[in-house]
Amino acid sequence: TRRLVIAVDGPAAAGKGTLAKRLAQALDLPYLDTGLLYRATGRRMIDAGHDPAQGEAQEFAASVGLEDLSRTDLRVPEVDRAASLVAAQPAVRRVLVDVQRRFAGEHGAVLDGRDIGTVIFPDASVKLFITASPRTRATRRWEQLATDPHAPDREDQITRVEREIEARDMADSSRAVAPLRAAGDAVRIETDGLSADEVLAEALRIVARMT
Ligand code: C5P
Repeated sequence: TRRLVIAVDGPAAAGKGTLAKRLAQALDLPYLDTGLLYRATGRRMIDAGHDPAQGEAQEFAASVGLEDLSRTDLRVPEVDRAASLVAAQPAVRRVLVDVQRRFAGEHGAVLDGRDIGTVIFPDASVKLFITASPRTRATRRWEQLATDPHAPDREDQITRVEREIEARDMADSSRAVAPLRAAGDAVRIETDGLSADEVLAEALRIVARMT
């Protein structure tokens, strides 16, 4: 059987992680959330009192291992920003390429990120590009984080999340190295109005057709 590598790319909070995890389970493949590598790099810099916008980030990236990825303090706003800042540095990306390629090893994998189909695995068996409107993405992210789902300022809070998401997408799309974009041969899934089950079903149909 052919080694299956499935690339799942797209902007922040589009549902890539949810899909990629479930796809991996359905296909019995290992799963890697590659955003965690950039998050762990940013986290280590913050912890060491370094500015993630400055140099030397590659030394921190080099010390990141798969064991860092289970840290519970990687999905906080300051690390969102730090990850995006270190991810724009070519030296950091160079260091992290190998980790990602080795992960897929001989057995294949499902990986989600921004540049999996364009840079990390340009020959991936299947490339999916997952999108949703900024409002949908902000609402989903807010619902994950919200302590009070009935907060009276719910709409304002969602708008704030939407601005943060748009700022990060802008930074990720406009950077010189490995910008966020769909590979020419990626299949797009627009997830507005779809449940996680529907997105998975659509992805499985695409995988079946292409493999
Ligand atoms: O996917 P997630 O939101 O966790 O990624 C955090 C940040 O890491 C992104 O905003 C992006 O700057 C960076 N990233 C990247 N390439 C990837 C995955 C994530 O540049 N393959």
